[in-house]
Amino acid sequence: MNHFDYQDGVLFAEGVSIPRIAADVGTPFYCYSTATIERHYTVLAESLAAAGLKATICFACKANPNLAVIRTLSRLGAGADVVSEGELRRALAAGVPAERIVFSGVGKTRDELAFAIESGIMQINVESEPELLMLSELATAAGREIEVAIRVNPDVDANTHAKITTGKKENKFGIEWTRVREVYAIARALPGLVPVAVACHIGSQLTEIGPFREAFLRLRDLVQVLRSDGTDIRRLDLGGGLGVPYDGETPPSPAAYAGAIAETLGDLGCSVLVEPGRLLVGNAGLLVSSVVRVKTGATRTFVVVDAAMNDLMRPALYDAYHAIHPVTEPSAEVEAVPVDIVGPVCETGDTFARQRPLPPVQAGDLLVFATAGAYGAAMASTYNSRPLVPEVMVNGNRFAVVRVRPSYEEMIAFDRLPDWQSDTKT
Ligand code: LLP
Repeated sequence: MNHFDYQDGVLFAEGVSIPRIAADVGTPFYCYSTATIERHYTVLAESLAAAGLKATICFACKANPNLAVIRTLSRLGAGADVVSEGELRRALAAGVPAERIVFSGVGKTRDELAFAIESGIMQINVESEPELLMLSELATAAGREIEVAIRVNPDVDANTHAKITTGKKENKFGIEWTRVREVYAIARALPGLVPVAVACHIGSQLTEIGPFREAFLRLRDLVQVLRSDGTDIRRLDLGGGLGVPYDGETPPSPAAYAGAIAETLGDLGCSVLVEPGRLLVGNAGLLVSSVVRVKTGATRTFVVVDAAMNDLMRPALYDAYHAIHPVTEPSAEVEAVPVDIVGPVCETGDTFARQRPLPPVQAGDLLVFATAGAYGAAMASTYNSRPLVPEVMVNGNRFAVVRVRPSYEEMIAFDRLPDWQSDTKT
């Protein structure tokens, strides 16, 4: 469910027409709907509450780290799941209280851990013994007691794309579930650490409830064993991963997800923390692009647009499907013909869709890439020296640019010529 609809034949984001924004900011740009983000958060929060869970929703900022997006969620009560000092600083800058922030990741550096300790965040999810030792040392030096979770690798197949599967034993994440008991024993003995939680995240874009249940049941067993060892587990961090429909998939509903949590873990007396990213923002964003030209190739027609793989990497990186719609509603009589929708970047991989039926379009027409609110702008780069595209947030009849398009001068100004080249004449 989202708030992007055709009104009188033109696509609107809530109360604002996409062509109006395009005329104002130019294309390409990302467009986010506040009402859609709020709705997704509310549905999840209500589902968790209805299942009788005492839950905190920590938005996985990696999905969309724009300050306005994080703030939209934090105003509703969301916390944040961060994986770098940059994300932690963004969450704090967006107004997320430190006591609602959790820090995950296999490669947290000494500086990042020290900053997290200094910021007083809720919980640090530890993914290895060396990290545990480093954290203990830093916490002791800072005179602090840090609440930690050990991230468990439950060796469960999430049945999703291999590049976003994280809970199998060959993946780099977490500590193998069979060894977790001894690592908690180490954590209990180390100064400066309070092991209060167990964490787990098995992958992203899950479209079935089964793998979640399997992982949750494994956690359940672990909590019981850890408690019998004397670790006071009070919180369960269940990660994110609930999928969204890109191409007709039917992922479990938030209610089914909450139900599976309650059924497997509800009687342990723990508070629950979930880290959704895509679920909250995926469907709440579009990438808006213009057709540069239509090119007739030897065997197919190419619709060349002004967005490219650097702006929305998912198709090139994961062969991901994004629905593509014209901003002017096609009439029912117009026949869609298969075209390749491509960007201007100098790689064949810069292809958004192959042989996708599209109503006839011409240069200047606006197209939108749907379900681009998660891992869209977040993963963009400046490849081919294309400046990052702006991000726009709509709220009812208002819109605001929430990330500006850098100028070419600003983009180039990050480079420096070494002194031995400074007088070089070209
Ligand atoms: N928690 C942890 C520890 C994670 O690693 C992730 C995602 C999440 C939460 C949020 O997962 P979500 O609810 O969004 O599925 N770039 C890929 C997705 C990578 C996900 C990485 N970790 C894509 O575009 O599909």
